[in-house]
Amino acid sequence: MNFADSEIVSAILTKEGYSVSKNIENADYILINTCAIRDNAEQRIRKRLRELRALQRQRGWVKIGILGCMAERLQKQLMEEEENVAFVVGPDAYRNLPAMLTRIQQGERLAETLLSESETYADIEPVRYDTNGITAYISIMRGCQNYCAYCVVPYTRGRERSRDPQTIVNEAKGLVEKGYREVTLLGQNVNSYHWRSESGEVGFPELMAMVAEVSPLLRVRFATSHPKDLSDELLQVMARYDNICKCIHLPVQSGSARMLKLMNRHYTPEWYLGRIEAIHRILPTCSITTDVIAGFCSETEEDHQATLDMFRQVRYDYAYMFKFSMRPNTYAEKHLKDDVPDETKTRRLEEIIALQGQIALENNQKEIGKTYEVLVEGVSHRSDKQLFGRNSQNKVIVFDRENACPGQYVTVTVTRCTAATLIGKIV
Ligand code: 5AD
Ligand code: SF4
Repeated sequence: MNFADSEIVSAILTKEGYSVSKNIENADYILINTCAIRDNAEQRIRKRLRELRALQRQRGWVKIGILGCMAERLQKQLMEEEENVAFVVGPDAYRNLPAMLTRIQQGERLAETLLSESETYADIEPVRYDTNGITAYISIMRGCQNYCAYCVVPYTRGRERSRDPQTIVNEAKGLVEKGYREVTLLGQNVNSYHWRSESGEVGFPELMAMVAEVSPLLRVRFATSHPKDLSDELLQVMARYDNICKCIHLPVQSGSARMLKLMNRHYTPEWYLGRIEAIHRILPTCSITTDVIAGFCSETEEDHQATLDMFRQVRYDYAYMFKFSMRPNTYAEKHLKDDVPDETKTRRLEEIIALQGQIALENNQKEIGKTYEVLVEGVSHRSDKQLFGRNSQNKVIVFDRENACPGQYVTVTVTRCTAATLIGKIV
């Protein structure tokens, strides 16, 4: 989401005559787009700010701005604590940046952090930079109001709002014309995408179909689905279009019914497993990935075992695994205790990581001998004689170059694997 937002910021400033510098040493303004989801994300930014002091001394004139969720969370306080920060801009205030920079140039220090109920940056065509020219993100909605007990996002990104579907389709068409072959539709909870206008209503399944119709050459992905809202209707639309990728990211967060209730997730383990069953039934080739948190408030060994059991049952293809980090202002901070000792959180996280590593390897071993259509994304990092790409299930496949080039679809048979990568051969 931050990556997509940076492209919007880039578009807003490019229109006013600014340009993106490839080299930080030449930049007049350094904009740092930040995350606030866990404390370590914020600590990394603090460290980065300290490192940038040397550059500032050397250059004399360079202004640093903090964008995104950490800016929204801390507002003016951030400028008080970090004296080398000249400006702070929240996620709904990026349109103000050109006017702000004019004042900052004259020596002012400014914070703009008003959240909006309607801003979707729908009319802004993002300036893609640092891109492979093949895959791109399209932001389809902003904000979240699910208020999971551990999560800071509803406070830093504000109310949920959906973007006009026609502007989304137009953005996808523009990307296809420029040679892009894959888009990922982004939102905190894409299943609750909902657009109302005089000509009718558009929900997420219809939106997916509209984007899939743009071109059969364009692959469509999405992130993230909240399990409580994952409908059969969406799965059926996914089944209907070959170019909608068969991969679902379905954050489970915990396998324990008690934890899920405390987390305010609005589903039980049984209900979640029911959704997994629906995915297998309607989309037999679909891969499933997840997010999980180890050591949430009051988590017992038994709760932790329930999470491991969930991983054994679902057998995820990939998981983003985190230690719980208490965030200011959340329900957890106000009403619960961060009472799982750090060593216990670390040990539980390591157990989840070890189990998932084993499962991912076994899942990949089952892929050996299978043949997939792969969208070539670029030259392999290991060897320029090899290319890499992804199959519909979002698995990375590396293979000998032969005559293929990035942007093409090729058919690849898997011959070997590691836990993270499939290795194959063009057929
Ligand atoms: N501590 C740890 N992980 C968190 N996440 C969200 N908030 C926290 C927190 N306070 C994780 C969730 C979410 C992912 C984006 O980040 O797993 O799905
Ligand atoms: Fe945070 Fe929950 Fe919203 Fe995801 S759905 S952004 S975890 S509040």
